[in-house]
Amino acid sequence: MAQQKMKFICSKCGEETDASITTERYKKALCRNCFGKRKDNRTNQLNDLTGAEWARHSKSIETYSDTRTQNQKEHGACFPKSLAIHQIEIYTKFGDVVLDPFMGVGTTMLATHELGRRSLGIELNPKFAKMCRDEIANKGLCATIYEDDANNMCKYIANESVDFILTSPPYANLLKTIKGNFAYKWREHSVIDPIKNPAPYSSNERDIGNMEYDDGIQSLANIMRKCYAVQKPNTYAVWIVKDFRDLKRKIPYINFHGDVIRCAEDAGYTLWDIRIYDQTNFRPLVCLGYPSRNYYLNISHSYMLVFKKTR
Ligand SMILES: C[S@@+](CC[C@H](N)C(=O)[O-])C[C@H]1O[C@@H](n2cnc3c(N)ncnc32)[C@H](O)[C@@H]1O
Repeated sequence: MAQQKMKFICSKCGEETDASITTERYKKALCRNCFGKRKDNRTNQLNDLTGAEWARHSKSIETYSDTRTQNQKEHGACFPKSLAIHQIEIYTKFGDVVLDPFMGVGTTMLATHELGRRSLGIELNPKFAKMCRDEIANKGLCATIYEDDANNMCKYIANESVDFILTSPPYANLLKTIKGNFAYKWREHSVIDPIKNPAPYSSNERDIGNMEYDDGIQSLANIMRKCYAVQKPNTYAVWIVKDFRDLKRKIPYINFHGDVIRCAEDAGYTLWDIRIYDQTNFRPLVCLGYPSRNYYLNISHSYMLVFKKTR
């Protein structure tokens, strides 16, 4: 049965309005507009964002400004600091502990400090660890960096002590197998320089970037279990990954993000969200496969895989 509506004057703005007599709005004598503008007194349990910021941060496709520092250029496989800031703002509060188990030159760490959170980083390659340590020291800050295999993180980090993980893992031995010449470099349009293939990170055999694909996935699965152990219950982890091809071995598409999701779920995480990181404007379009019957897309997006430790 339809609820009876009554006309009345809004007690706040004086406009005529109507409402069903059983509603909270009628009892408070407020029009729709003024009722909607109430202050939200609920406590934000996850982060320090307002409701409007919470919504603005929640787009399922994002682009990030792609300016690189000298250290990031030298490393060659970093995500932008603006991406790190965006994720840390969503999944943490001031003072929380953020871990990057594949720290590189410390993009996560620098963003973490900037936002007043505490940071932990693990990096196998001493050169990258030093570059990060020096940059942090130059800013008058102090970094907790473990120069080791991420497989050993439980030696340094207590169980259930980390509030958020943001990372981007090596893609097995992709950097050794891709060759620029599989792409017939016919640049359709581009506002930026062509991509130069990044160099392998190191010659260390524990470097996942030196492993065959299956061994690399196995190592990621082990590291994912350690990540799960050190995270507090009810916290998030975001893994930035990209699918790729191994045309040298005639494999047209490697579903890396699918394999990382499987590792995370095996470790106990719940797949919570997938955001697309759109890099279309930062990569030149090259002509792949032309003029054969092998038509390949330019893969110009990464997956931002959001996992939650729900227990
Ligand atoms: C994709 S890069 C991360 C870059 C980082 N997000 C940044 O912005 O600087 C992956 C990093 O993992 C490191 N790495 C490879 N195997 C590792 C392992 N077993 N344990 C810890 N770090 C490792 C590599 O040296 C490389 O710096």
